[in-house]
Amino acid sequence: MSRVYLSPPDVGPEERALLLDAFDSNWIAPLGPHVDAFEAEMAARTGVAGALALTSGTAALHLALLLMEVGPGHDVLVPSQTFVATANVVTYLGARPVLVDSDRATWTVDPALVAEELGRRARQGRLPAALVTVDLYGQCADYGPLLASCAEYGVPVLEDAAEALGATYGGEPAGSFGTAGVFSFNGNKIITTSGGGMLVSHDPAFVARARYLSTQARQPVVHYEHTDIGFNYRLSNLLAAVGRGQLRGLDDRIARRRGINERYRQGLRTLPGISFMPHAPYGEPNYWLTCILVEAAAFGAGPEEIRLALEAEDIESRPTWKPLHLQPVYQDAPVVGGSVSAELFEKGLCLPSGSSLSEADLERVIAVISGLAG
Ligand SMILES: Cc1ncc(COP(=O)(O)O)c(C=O)c1O
Repeated sequence: MSRVYLSPPDVGPEERALLLDAFDSNWIAPLGPHVDAFEAEMAARTGVAGALALTSGTAALHLALLLMEVGPGHDVLVPSQTFVATANVVTYLGARPVLVDSDRATWTVDPALVAEELGRRARQGRLPAALVTVDLYGQCADYGPLLASCAEYGVPVLEDAAEALGATYGGEPAGSFGTAGVFSFNGNKIITTSGGGMLVSHDPAFVARARYLSTQARQPVVHYEHTDIGFNYRLSNLLAAVGRGQLRGLDDRIARRRGINERYRQGLRTLPGISFMPHAPYGEPNYWLTCILVEAAAFGAGPEEIRLALEAEDIESRPTWKPLHLQPVYQDAPVVGGSVSAELFEKGLCLPSGSSLSEADLERVIAVISGLAG
């Protein structure tokens, strides 16, 4: 039996054909028609005016915050329950992340805490320079109240939709809610280019400015002329070709991951002490990862014992994100709340969720977990 991975790449003949087309056309260095087409297709899928293909989701977050004029001395509200890249880009710019706890009902950033924090800071005259939301494990944050609070205080929103391509909130696509949105195509995401990212925005001028900064801020003259500090952040044409093939299969991949989520719910539903990440009624996730919470006393084993038992059967699972306020690197960052995300980490486990998992793979996972129940 082969190893079961958490969320491995799922590529096929379409990606291979597009990659070879890019190779054979000699559009290798580095931009080219597949980059343009991938951007247009992503903009259409996300319902935005423009998209910019970049080397990573982190690069996209970095450029977006830079263009939102985040800089030294600023505070930026960031959910504590996320991958570290969401906060690192704030630090790159000399600003300070302020880590906000999760809402237990969605696991995403708590809109009530954001509203309270903005009100408190408004009274003190120290509003944050931005709020970064995270569409966690493929489920959108609660944009109704979040956008209302931010609009009230004039705080711009950056949507980190790295994990959520194809998810929706109130019928609108993930990535379309803030001043800008960001996707990641790293190897474990719902679609991958091996490594890559995309910045999207309703504002064509924002995308144009990001495009300029992502190509070393070169002025439109024949020689190399520079008036700004830029970056080398563009996605290569070869990788964009792979991304186009992956995007064509996005809906099938979401359907498959939804099926995996349903299979786990059905297979584990009678076990005591096991619950699932709640499916918020306001939208439809892309089911990137299926995550459970384990009440050790009721179940008879904790999430780490489950992880080790799965590993012994050559099955990869992973703890939920360790909250950033518990990370040594952010131990001095201000935190708003924190107990909910700490508990989600203590009890949480992400189960294998890749779109190429077979029914037999899922049965192996369910059998190992069921076998541990006390
Ligand atoms: C929430 C979140 N933000 C940002 C990133 C960074 O994306 P990348 O790895 O493409 O830089 C990731 C994933 O890696 C992520 O899960």
